[in-house]
Amino acid sequence: MKETRINKYLAERGVASRREADRLIQQGNVLINGKRAELGSVVRSKDRVEVDGELLDTREQKIYIALNKPVGYITTTDVSKTDNVLSLVDLPERLYPIGRLDVATSGLLLLTNDGEFANKIMHPKYGHEKEYEVTTDRPLTAGEQAALRNGVRLKEGMTRMARVRSLGASKIQIAIKEGKNRQVRRMLSVLGHRVTKLKRVRIGSVALGSLPSGHWRLLKPKEVKSLQALNQTAKIS
Ligand code: URA
Repeated sequence: MKETRINKYLAERGVASRREADRLIQQGNVLINGKRAELGSVVRSKDRVEVDGELLDTREQKIYIALNKPVGYITTTDVSKTDNVLSLVDLPERLYPIGRLDVATSGLLLLTNDGEFANKIMHPKYGHEKEYEVTTDRPLTAGEQAALRNGVRLKEGMTRMARVRSLGASKIQIAIKEGKNRQVRRMLSVLGHRVTKLKRVRIGSVALGSLPSGHWRLLKPKEVKSLQALNQTAKIS
């Protein structure tokens, strides 16, 4: 079970900055399971944390995270796997990934402990675009880029319209609204190209930005809200 230092735990929940949290702890205002916390005490998922006599209800606390998944990490909740994406997030909550990235794919992966949210936002009717930077073994012609844009045939049927933009000789950006298994790699494979590097850089309004590889951040409330909204405006052009 994961452990988090109490000052970090309080800071991540917006109770206080780490320094203020240390002060609250030193003043004896923080209890863990009824016992006075000390600087350096750790919190686990089942612990009861009280600040100034008020219980922080960790079971009700919903957490939404953006992780920059490095290549080599597996999108699974199986914590017996050491290269599990969950091992990169040092929070006591039981989190799970929203959708998945292949082991060889890097970039933006959302995680949450809010099951309802996860199921909801992955539904195609929400229409959240997922944007990828794709490096291929050789350059794509304008015709091949147009084919990606208009749809290619996979075993499940034609892919939907996509947004495609050249980023250089053998690099494109593609934004899709579906999430079929290994979709981007298979779309390129249909055209005879091998993907040498694949990175997800955006899901809906949540951008990876400059988050370093292997690091995570909490989503801003407005990002969570925008993911929960039906995205009817983002038309593919
Ligand atoms: N498409 C892929 O092929 N792989 C991923 O990890 C995500 C999208």
